[in-house]
Amino acid sequence: VVADSPFTQPLRIPGREGLMAQTPRGSALRLVAKEGAFPLFGGPETALWHYNARIDETIVANPLLAIGRGEPLDVTLENALAEPTTIHWHGLAVDEANDGSGLHPVAPGKKRRYTLRVENRAGLYWYHAHPHQLTGKQIQRGLAGLLLVDDEEELTLRKRLRLPWGERDIPLMISDKQVNDRNEIVYKDNPDDWIGNRVLVNWTAGAYLDVKSTLYRFRLINTSNARVFRPAFLHRGRPLAFHLIGTDGGLLEKPWRVDDLFLAPAQRADVLVSFAEVGEGESVILTSLDYVAMENEDDSGPLQPHLMADHPGAVPMGGRMELMEFRIGAADPKDSPAPLPPKLCNFPKPAVEVTPVRKFRLSLDAEGVWHINDWNMHASGHDAQFVVRRGTCEIWEIHNAMASMPHPIHIHGFQFHVLSRTISPPDIRARAVVPGGLGPQDLGLLDTILVWPGETVRIALDFSQPFKGRQRYMLHCHNLEHEDMGMMVTFAVTDDAP
Ligand code: C2O
Ligand code: CU
Repeated sequence: VVADSPFTQPLRIPGREGLMAQTPRGSALRLVAKEGAFPLFGGPETALWHYNARIDETIVANPLLAIGRGEPLDVTLENALAEPTTIHWHGLAVDEANDGSGLHPVAPGKKRRYTLRVENRAGLYWYHAHPHQLTGKQIQRGLAGLLLVDDEEELTLRKRLRLPWGERDIPLMISDKQVNDRNEIVYKDNPDDWIGNRVLVNWTAGAYLDVKSTLYRFRLINTSNARVFRPAFLHRGRPLAFHLIGTDGGLLEKPWRVDDLFLAPAQRADVLVSFAEVGEGESVILTSLDYVAMENEDDSGPLQPHLMADHPGAVPMGGRMELMEFRIGAADPKDSPAPLPPKLCNFPKPAVEVTPVRKFRLSLDAEGVWHINDWNMHASGHDAQFVVRRGTCEIWEIHNAMASMPHPIHIHGFQFHVLSRTISPPDIRARAVVPGGLGPQDLGLLDTILVWPGETVRIALDFSQPFKGRQRYMLHCHNLEHEDMGMMVTFAVTDDAP
């Protein structure tokens, strides 16, 4: 270990108490949204807003909830904060009443019970606060936790790969925070405070994890307000190739070998990393690579993300950041990895029937206000902008008309397949040959997609659901400051839409 290593705190992993503790399966949970103090950065504790539960005299904070597909989730939120809050179940197929969007805020001192059945595929999901115009502040202050769903297919794969959960299958919840020199999380004290100066992985700054020289599974999730990470596993400064096996909505059909990924706010990546070739005593640094947005070489198309190293002097769109360290220990023969199966699951096919195409245009007006189809929720209203007929399929085409930045677009209630996109980062495309201009991450089921400047993406949605009546959902940018500025529209799903 290098003497001046910035990685000095053991990575927090789901334990029995405190932050990210894993709660017992199957029981109803009471979560109190409140402030508490936790050691995050080393030195003084940090005031953190969190969802707090007491389980057998133990306090857990922002617990990791594990649940089987088809099982009920029963959580009562009690709001002990001085402002409205909610719990939004990001990625889950829910009805409006249990979606936890800003349409149903829970006032200070009030309660709300969320009861839902988890019908999603196995994968890593998350929950977080979602009150109108306060989402950015409340997530930055700490109101976010993980939800792990499993099913038969997942459990079979887990057995086959011999990667025990919590030991060699570990969630890595990555977020940046703007922190002052008293270890306080600040928000919008300065206009740029929503881009953090410190990184937490599993609520740990400067984290390291002791690993063996063998195969690991990491569930990466970006819970930052605005920062788009480009994670790579660097060994002696060079990327260690790894396999992408899943995305927001669970497993891919087959593993894809990649050197790095883009992980926008709210996105997840399920990856297999082998430390077998890394010598004992060495380290691997999980690093977010820097990237720049550049014109196509022939000057024709929209901006494309490139590695900074290929374009010295260009202005970075995302800066390089070291996130955490893996310290490699000896291999243990009993942990020798199982071979990767060529097929991971029966991947659901996109609906390809004749479908209407609905178009969305992301833009910025002269006053600096973000719009979707010239609509800004806070300026123009919360009412449903369009209605979708339940049980039908639609293609949504999302065009980012702004040259300045990518937007992670998230849809509540329904996950989707990516049909086409006009940009895939060339250095990723070059390494992984995927049909239709899609990158490996686009081959998974998603609930959030990063739309690059100038890009047009087409996604397929299936609006089948077991609910009745009029159910309202949101479509919005998951850059939380954009969301809070109203870059969001409401839509409704009904049985009698035209
Ligand atoms: Cu993760 Cu509408 O949010
Ligand atoms: Cu945005």
